[in-house]
Amino acid sequence: LAKIEIKLSEIPEGKSVTLKWRGKPLFVRHRTQEEIDVVRSVDITTLRDPQRDEDRTQKPEWLIVIGVCTHLGCVPMAGLGDFGGYYCPCHGSHFDASGRARKGPAPANLEVPPYSFPSDNTLLVG
Ligand code: FES
Repeated sequence: LAKIEIKLSEIPEGKSVTLKWRGKPLFVRHRTQEEIDVVRSVDITTLRDPQRDEDRTQKPEWLIVIGVCTHLGCVPMAGLGDFGGYYCPCHGSHFDASGRARKGPAPANLEVPPYSFPSDNTLLVG
C-alpha cells in the first residue's frame, strides 16, 4: 500500500505502535508532555545529526518515523535505551523520543516519512 491511514484515538498517550508502510516498519508514538519537553530542550549542536524536534514533527504529541536503524537496518525497540526513545539491539544504537541518534553507531536520525493529518483523529502516511 502506498498510503496508510491510522486512527489516532487507538494509540494511548505514552505508547509507540509499530505498523507497516511500504514494506517497512513504521513507528507512531503518542508522546507525553514530559517526552516533548525533554526532546525540545536538547541543544541540537550536541547532536551528530542536528535536527530540531519542531522540524521533525507536525504536532508535538505525535512522532512518526520509519523503524529502520540508520546503522545497518535492524528494527529498534520502543521505550528502551538511555534516551527513552528507541534502542537498536543489533549494535547498540540509542535514539531519543524524537527518533534522533544519540549514542552508538547509528550515523543519522530515524527517517521521517511524508505524512499529514486529514482530521484531528486521522494520520495519513505516504
Ligand atoms: Fe542498529 Fe547496527 S543496525 S545499531
